[in-house]
Amino acid sequence: MKKIQKVTIVGAGLMGHGIAQVFLAHPGFAVTLYDTFPAMLDAAPEKIRANAQSVGWTHCDLGRLRLTGSLADAVSDADLVIEAIPEKLELKQQLFADIEKLSRHDCIFASNTSVIPITAIAEMLEDKSRMIGTHWWNPPYLIPLVEVVQTAHTSAEAIDAVMKMLTALGKTPVHVKKDVPGFVANRLQHALWREAIAIVEAGICDAATVDLCVKNSFGLRLSVLAPLENADLVGLELTEDIHRVILPDLSTAKEPSPLLRQLIDEGKKGWSTGAGFHEWSETDKTQARQRLTERLLQLLPKQVAC
Ligand SMILES: NC(=O)c1ccc[n+]([C@@H]2O[C@H](COP(=O)([O-])OP(=O)(O)OC[C@H]3O[C@@H](n4cnc5c(N)ncnc54)[C@H](O)[C@@H]3O)[C@@H](O)[C@H]2O)c1
Repeated sequence: MKKIQKVTIVGAGLMGHGIAQVFLAHPGFAVTLYDTFPAMLDAAPEKIRANAQSVGWTHCDLGRLRLTGSLADAVSDADLVIEAIPEKLELKQQLFADIEKLSRHDCIFASNTSVIPITAIAEMLEDKSRMIGTHWWNPPYLIPLVEVVQTAHTSAEAIDAVMKMLTALGKTPVHVKKDVPGFVANRLQHALWREAIAIVEAGICDAATVDLCVKNSFGLRLSVLAPLENADLVGLELTEDIHRVILPDLSTAKEPSPLLRQLIDEGKKGWSTGAGFHEWSETDKTQARQRLTERLLQLLPKQVAC
């Protein structure tokens, strides 16, 4: 499979323009951004410029960014299409069916879905061997991980080409060999969220206390000592003893918590409404964003940030 050079990103929202920024910071890629909403396309270059400035990137070449409102124009000569449109299965299925008709036969198709199995997204494709998952994390220009998801149909060449490309971009690609909902990192993250919500629901403590516990204990260690490294550190016998006591008591809920629905029904949807588990003023949100960017820049090696 030839080297990936012409990349099209479909969807210029939060993830799409952030992913475009990564390619624009690396010479050798021609980047096309497509969106059905002209306002999103028009706003993308300024958002990329502002993001690049906020993290000190001086090498983000907006001259290599092409914007288009035509899907045919966007994908007809692409080596790789990365989809970052809303998390709706039918929308993604139809998009890739359209792209397959409009693109070259050797173009690789990648979805940035957070949790939907890639096999389901590829359902309407005639050639499913070129369909993979590339799950980037927000903000994509800072978080190193990209989960590269293989389905039962994906060719080894497609996986190999994308893994090599992501490595060249300075990312940390991981090969996910089974197409399970949530892949690897979101399964881990949402196992924690399920228990966090269950603790509040059971009245063990309030939401502020849950977050305080995480931020002042294992949250501090996680980026240098991940769960299985930590299990080795404390020893697998202790891990087994702890699990014998605690696992029967942890949440095994198979449905979203009723507490989530209750908060949503009360209009507490999170940052968008100024309240969720916590209250959020505009200042709180700005400060939280700044704290996150500053901490990520401190933690990440320079080459990841460039
Ligand atoms: N937000 C996150 O933190 C995050 C992280 C990882 C993965 N994801 C996943 O990435 C995808 C995009 O999420 P987002 O947060 O960037 O969404 P977003 O709502 O910010 O952006 C989606 C964009 O897609 C455009 N769009 C809608 N339908 C389209 C179509 N048919 N063709 C072309 N463009 C279309 C919209 O105009 C919008 O600009 C989702 O699958 C999401 O689950 C999100």
